[in-house]
Amino acid sequence: MDDLYDLGAVVEPLCLWYEENKRSMPWRDAPSPYHVWLSEIMLQQTRIEAAKAYYERFIKRLPDVKALAQVPEEELLKLWEGLGYYNRARNLQKAAKVIVERYEGRIPADYDLLLNLPGIGSYTAGAIASIAYGIAASAVDGNVLRVTMRYLGSEDDISKMSVRKKMERSILTVIPKDKPGEFNQAVMELGEVICIPNGMPLCEECPLADGCQAKREGKQTELPVKPEKKRRRIEKRTLLILEWEGQIGIARRKPTGLLAGLWEFPSMEGHLSLKDIEQFLNKNGISGTKIERMKSGKHIFSHVEWHMRGYHIVLSPDQVPEDKTQDIVPDVIWTEKEELEKTYAIPVAFHSFLRQIIR
Ligand code: ADE
Repeated sequence: MDDLYDLGAVVEPLCLWYEENKRSMPWRDAPSPYHVWLSEIMLQQTRIEAAKAYYERFIKRLPDVKALAQVPEEELLKLWEGLGYYNRARNLQKAAKVIVERYEGRIPADYDLLLNLPGIGSYTAGAIASIAYGIAASAVDGNVLRVTMRYLGSEDDISKMSVRKKMERSILTVIPKDKPGEFNQAVMELGEVICIPNGMPLCEECPLADGCQAKREGKQTELPVKPEKKRRRIEKRTLLILEWEGQIGIARRKPTGLLAGLWEFPSMEGHLSLKDIEQFLNKNGISGTKIERMKSGKHIFSHVEWHMRGYHIVLSPDQVPEDKTQDIVPDVIWTEKEELEKTYAIPVAFHSFLRQIIR
């Protein structure tokens, strides 16, 4: 018998607290499996308040699994614009297709079948199973690990899969069979509003304060233990915002890697000066242009930071952009400004530049 974390005393006070204090959320009011699934994936990327608007828009356009399975990818990515990690949206659709083909469009009420779907890991499978279907399954996310490790006063490293798995097994032994979804959400919610990350938790309001080991020892801010994150790499880039007769030149990113398959402004490595750009355009036979340095932009991803400099380059009307620009920025397409905003999924990383040309 492997050892488990002892969380038996947590259940009752936590569920009572949750009953009194749970916040209203659009997906909570009507917790269909599809609603729970979508909200949980969105909440892996953004805060609850920010997720609400994305969620409402998404549900309005794609109200069920079938609609999600059928939507053109470009439109799906547009609906996801701003949330980041676009592969999550692609995986949602892949899973929706499997659900339509294999399960007649009904999301399976089975933890292991859920786990087999693209983009669904143990956390999401547990959340859907417990919240939407009332199945006793654990759903361990960062909130849950923070709350429980502080409560236990445990210095186990929460970045380790073995620790997460042990927590999943431990919760499974105490989870109330009549309301597993309520219990899972209660722990998450406590982690979001009371046992908060980054700084001192609000222990005086916590229903678990009496039994909390971290509080007893005054080490709330030292727990949970996780290794230092690696420093992010910094990438300098120069964006060329090309305009010709009111149209803007954009190109598709590579089909793999960061922001795969999304649209961007053509760019070059490093920070180029205005003079560099002028020389570059002259060398490539592009003349009669107005070039303006734009306000710089920065975007932070999990492993890399982009420090972006941009130039707004207005080609003269007699310049035929396809001919001239294909040499210097291959596969660029030209699109009206309104189309650019409406149709193409442009990552948030580029939005500050977009705003400078669309007023
Ligand atoms: N965070 C992620 N999913 C949640 C949920 N269902 N309830 C509360 N907080 C959450």
